Order: sequence, then C-alpha cells, then structure tokens
Amino acid sequence: MRVLGIAGSPRRGGNTDLLLNEVMKGAASRGAEVKTIILSHLKIAPCQHCDGCLETGRCKVEDDMQMVHSELMKADRIVLASPVHFMGVTAQAKAMIDRCQALWVRKYVLKQPPLGDKRERKGLFISVGGRKVANLFQPALATVKALFKVLDIAYAGELLFPGIDEKGAITKHPDALKQAFLAGQKLVED
Ligand SMILES: Cc1cc2nc3c(=O)[nH]c(=O)nc-3n(C[C@H](O)[C@H](O)[C@H](O)COP(=O)(O)O)c2cc1C
Repeated sequence: MRVLGIAGSPRRGGNTDLLLNEVMKGAASRGAEVKTIILSHLKIAPCQHCDGCLETGRCKVEDDMQMVHSELMKADRIVLASPVHFMGVTAQAKAMIDRCQALWVRKYVLKQPPLGDKRERKGLFISVGGRKVANLFQPALATVKALFKVLDIAYAGELLFPGIDEKGAITKHPDALKQAFLAGQKLVED
C-alpha cells in the first residue's frame, strides 16, 4: 500500500506539516510505503487553459506537475494537507489541483481512468485555519472533494482544526497530533 502525502503549505514545519507527518507516521506504522511531496519546493505553474490536454489527456506545460501526476497514479492513498488561505486552499495547492485538469480530460473526454487504472484509492484532507468562523473550511472542502471525485479517489475523511495560527500551535491542541496518527493508521487499514 502506497501513501502519498502532499504538503500544500508554504510554511515548512508549520501546523499542517506537523499533522501530515503524524498521518504518514501512522500509515507507516501499519506497514504502508509512504512518500511526501512538498508543493512549495516544486515548480508548478498555474493552468493556462490552453486546451493542450484536450486530445491527449497530457498537460503541455512541462514542469514538476508531470512527476505529481505519476505519484498520484502510483498511490493507493492520498493525503492532501493545506491550511486555509483567504478561505480556500493555498495557492500552491490550488495550482496543483488546477493542473489535474489534464486528468479530468482523461476521465470525461477520453473515457479513461483518470489515474491510469481502476484500483481503489482513498483520500484524506488535512486543514487548519487561524480563525474560528463559521464555514471556515467549506470552500477548501468543496475544492478538495471536487478533486478527489474527478480523480476517482473516495473521500475518506478530514482533519480540520480552527483557531490554529502561530507556527507549531497545533502541538498545544490536546489531541490533534494523536488524531492525525490514528487517522493515518485507519486510512491504510480500511
Ligand atoms: C496568506 C494567508 C491567508 C490566510 N487566510 C486565512 C483565512 O482566510 N482564514 C483563517 O482562519 N486563517 C487564515 N490564515 C492563517 C493560517 O490558516 C494559519 O496561520 C495556519 O495555522 C497556517 O498553517 P501552516 O502552519 O500549515 O502553514 C492565513 C494565512 C496566510 C499566510
């Protein structure tokens, strides 16, 4: 079982990074092969809507997104972590998500499995936000659920923590990191 972690925060060692690390540790403790990619270390241009993918299902923009597509294809479980930035996912995460439009084409235009095969895939979403307002996570959730649906990744749940702002604040939460570790275990056991 391969688990792909996708770190969407531009802040290294921040709150979503810490939660993602625990999820991946939990998955590894159950024997999964884990790999984390850090979007802010990659070169991923925004989608240009050039329609270059329409006939082939392959994005014409040559950058690190080809590697991300291939990691998504190899994975059985996907864990996407992004804090809330202006009520949505980070720019890094959104650029990666939009560049999955080529995979949308594979599924809906070319009638192919978007990730190359029909194996069962499941996805978990991790997010934190500094504030505590109603609907804090709704826009990000809608975006991530749309991504998973397009990629035929079953939505396996979420870890959402409001009121977490300073770097490392998540370590002061009574059991967030424990919840994350357990969620990683559950993700690969189910
Ligand atoms: C550009 C930017 C936009 C943000 N927008 C929001 C927001 O809309 N709502 C909110 O609750 N927190 C917002 N935050 C705060 C972050 O969600 C918060 O600091 C979070 O803990 C960062 O997680 P990280 O350490 O994983 O990067 C924003 C932070 C930044 C840098």
